Amino acid sequence: MFDRVKLRRDLTDCGGRLLARAGTVVSVESIAEAAAQARPGSATPVADTFIADDIGEILREPAHRHLLRTEEVMSKVREVVESATLPQPLVEEMAAAKLLDPVRYRHALCSAVVTTRLILAAAGTARASPQIAVAALLHDIGMRHVPARVVGAADSLHGEDAVEIAQHPLLGAFQLARQLGDHPAVEAALAHHWRDGQGYPDLAERPSPTTEVVAVASAYSALTHGRAYRSEPFESRGAADLLVAEAASGHADPFAVKLLVHAPRGGNGPMNGLRFARARQGMSPEVNRHTRIAPPARRMV
Ligand SMILES: [Fe+2]
Ligand SMILES: [Fe+2]
Repeated sequence: MFDRVKLRRDLTDCGGRLLARAGTVVSVESIAEAAAQARPGSATPVADTFIADDIGEILREPAHRHLLRTEEVMSKVREVVESATLPQPLVEEMAAAKLLDPVRYRHALCSAVVTTRLILAAAGTARASPQIAVAALLHDIGMRHVPARVVGAADSLHGEDAVEIAQHPLLGAFQLARQLGDHPAVEAALAHHWRDGQGYPDLAERPSPTTEVVAVASAYSALTHGRAYRSEPFESRGAADLLVAEAASGHADPFAVKLLVHAPRGGNGPMNGLRFARARQGMSPEVNRHTRIAPPARRMV
């Protein structure tokens, strides 16, 4: 059962502010307590931050072409993401990521754009909450605590290195609970690697459908961008094919994958016989040493 982590060192945010002392047990319970005690400060719309300057380029990426086919869809997605609000410490986290870990920063923006597009397809403009865009933007915030050596590893991960990765959902969710209080971003950080109970950490309850959408958007964004352990990114069709196979084998949420594949039709359509804008987009990388992180066999406490 891997559902908690005992901190070996103080947990701080990017500005060095203490979030939890060494020895604190970070678990679903302590995350809920942190959220209940949080007093989030005033928040700034994404539109008023540097993040807004970077969204245009993300919207026009080839990996998003089949999802964002028209200017109208692009501007609606942009509007939802830009109206999302972040408290100052989390604006600073995004700035630190942009400066120190541009791959993670880009991943955050791509995940926010794809998540927002899928929610718009599923729920329409009235229910596309900017809070979900925040959840996608911040879902991997816990990765800041993973050593750069591990993030940039070109080979498969083992032992302690895999444990470092396995901890990021718990650490990220704890920070977001402290800085956002009760917010869907906390669950998205905690459960985006849950993979229908076959990922990490172990959770007693199935996450919400919106967290499943963040998880699929994150997986799609990771597949379609360069990583140290792959010779090249998947093309959009290849990434979608892989996620369809994951859904079929119970490793990804079928509804969220269906939305990814059929977003232009509101998520309606068969899982097989997928149609994309261009005929040949199914390329998969020649070399792929992605490690499926197995949750540690026992609690890290
Ligand atoms: Fe993650
Ligand atoms: Fe992610």
